[in-house]
Amino acid sequence: MKIFKSILITGASSGIGKALAEQLAGEGVYLAISGRDQARLNEVGENCRKKGATVDATIIDVTNQAAMKSWLEEIDSQHSLDLVIANAGVSPGTSGETRKDDQMRRMLEINVIGVLNTIDPVIPGMIIRESGSIALMSSLAGFRGLPSAPGYGASKAWVRSYGEGLRGSLHAEGINVSVICPGFVASRITDQNKFPMPFFMTAPKAAAIILHGLDKNKARIAFPLASYIMAWLLAFLPLWLTDLLARKLPRKE
Ligand SMILES: NC(=O)c1ccc[n+]([C@@H]2O[C@H](COP(=O)([O-])OP(=O)(O)OC[C@H]3O[C@@H](n4cnc5c(N)ncnc54)[C@H](OP(=O)(O)O)[C@@H]3O)[C@@H](O)[C@H]2O)c1
Repeated sequence: MKIFKSILITGASSGIGKALAEQLAGEGVYLAISGRDQARLNEVGENCRKKGATVDATIIDVTNQAAMKSWLEEIDSQHSLDLVIANAGVSPGTSGETRKDDQMRRMLEINVIGVLNTIDPVIPGMIIRESGSIALMSSLAGFRGLPSAPGYGASKAWVRSYGEGLRGSLHAEGINVSVICPGFVASRITDQNKFPMPFFMTAPKAAAIILHGLDKNKARIAFPLASYIMAWLLAFLPLWLTDLLARKLPRKE
């Protein structure tokens, strides 16, 4: 098993990010974790310290490019990060906005620009070291435009496509890039969903699958398999057919 010793995770104050931090924590591990909610982030930090990790828990908004750049550059210069997980993300319901237009714009800033703000500052250091792993949090909702969540799905499609391209372009530099595409996982995002969620899983189970995939340097970590097959079919079947199917899906936005 590949051992990640110096790790940064955005959006580690709840859900999947919290589970990832708590599973990665251990003796000799340095963890930089971020979020916006001080109390929840501190709790995760304490859990990780109890497992022996050295933890920097920082309140920082991923959309603040200047703050992210200086935070990431400082941490990378001191700790030579070997794994960066751009996990922070929102759905319209967790964006903190109430008007639909504002929700969409804020979601794009966090889910798309926030990812760039997280990875751009660490890539130069990884290139110099000729090593490092980057993981981008996409979603199975990003495989085909869905009437149930057009904006969220589009933001995640961008992340997947960007990550897949980046993997090829950084390969020669010795950097691994993986794209994570979960189905429905218990978190504050899915707490908002008032419809049945097939193959729903806990965040710790999702985190274990993600870490196994990162260990193997998988290009795409998509799960659970049954949901992945459904997403894949929706993307590749003829549009006239998937239009009919997709219209029947419950609305998220
Ligand atoms: N749950 C699912 O079914 C599912 C499926 C596919 C993909 N995903 C993706 O998984 C990722 C994690 O989401 P989750 O499901 O675990 O939801 P979550 O419990 O709501 O966690 C989201 C995390 O992102 C942080 N965050 C949100 N906006 C931020 C910002 N502007 N700056 C910094 N941190 C911010 C949150 O911090 P605060 O707590 O401080 O607000 C929180 O730590 C997201 O990218 C999501 O799109 C989730």
